Amino acid sequence: MPLLQLQNVTRQYKSGQIRVNALTDVSLAVEKGEFISIMGPSGSGKSTLLNIIGCLDRPTSGTYILAGRHVEKLGDSNLAEIRNKLIGFVFQSFHLLPDLDAQANVELPLIYRGVGRKERRRKACAALEAVGLFERRRHLPSQLSGGEQQRVAIARALVGDPAVILADEPTGALDSASGAVIMSIFQYLNRERGMTIVQVTHEETIARHAGRVVFLRDGRIEREETVTEPLTAQGQFRAQTVQEVQEG
Ligand SMILES: Nc1ncnc2c1ncn2[C@@H]1O[C@H](COP(=O)(O)OP(=O)(O)O)[C@@H](O)[C@H]1O
Ligand SMILES: [Mg+2]
Repeated sequence: MPLLQLQNVTRQYKSGQIRVNALTDVSLAVEKGEFISIMGPSGSGKSTLLNIIGCLDRPTSGTYILAGRHVEKLGDSNLAEIRNKLIGFVFQSFHLLPDLDAQANVELPLIYRGVGRKERRRKACAALEAVGLFERRRHLPSQLSGGEQQRVAIARALVGDPAVILADEPTGALDSASGAVIMSIFQYLNRERGMTIVQVTHEETIARHAGRVVFLRDGRIEREETVTEPLTAQGQFRAQTVQEVQEG
């Protein structure tokens, strides 16, 4: 069974008398361990689709099964619970809290889950190592470059050990070199750690770092393409271990 499966999903918005179908009859299955890209022009429904996959929103009609659970039938509190447990989000504009250092930002989701202090610190450090930023754990967001801030956001998405990472235009606010680093981190997490990743992008070169590209147009899946030779990210990035950092 796929990790996540949407069947004939439609999402309709109403504003006054006008109804807009942001998604129409979308069927999509993602297996555990896949890295896929959702591509399409502005307004094609990419964010709407990612929000449904991420349990921030529910389909108007159709079914969505995530890790064996029928999401479309869940109430708000169950939806929030599933989201907190199974989904790690990465946003275009990072969404870090400016007054907290990198480590405290990464610890936040664990605080909401009631994880104790020592365990929080251990997990946050491991997640920062995975994105190569352990050494910068005491830096505030304002003391980090955009690319580094996005890496902190990826560590925060990872720290709760989610079933899937969902990224909406993760390189959209970055220069191309920093974007390449983000792609090399996603490929590392996917290939070396088996992380399932779904990213939304409107850039074809970013999309082709994944193993499959789904093309959206006017709220419908226009076509899908398996990427036989995903682009190799050229970004300079290496996961660290605490020991390596200490031996520096
Ligand atoms: N909350 C909303 N209310 C009304 N219409 C919306 C809302 N969110 C998105 N839409 C409409 O749904 C369509 C798809 O939007 P979106 O998923 O944000 O596209 P994309 O992320 O590909 O740019 C657009 O026509 C947009 O205007
Ligand atoms: Mg969008």
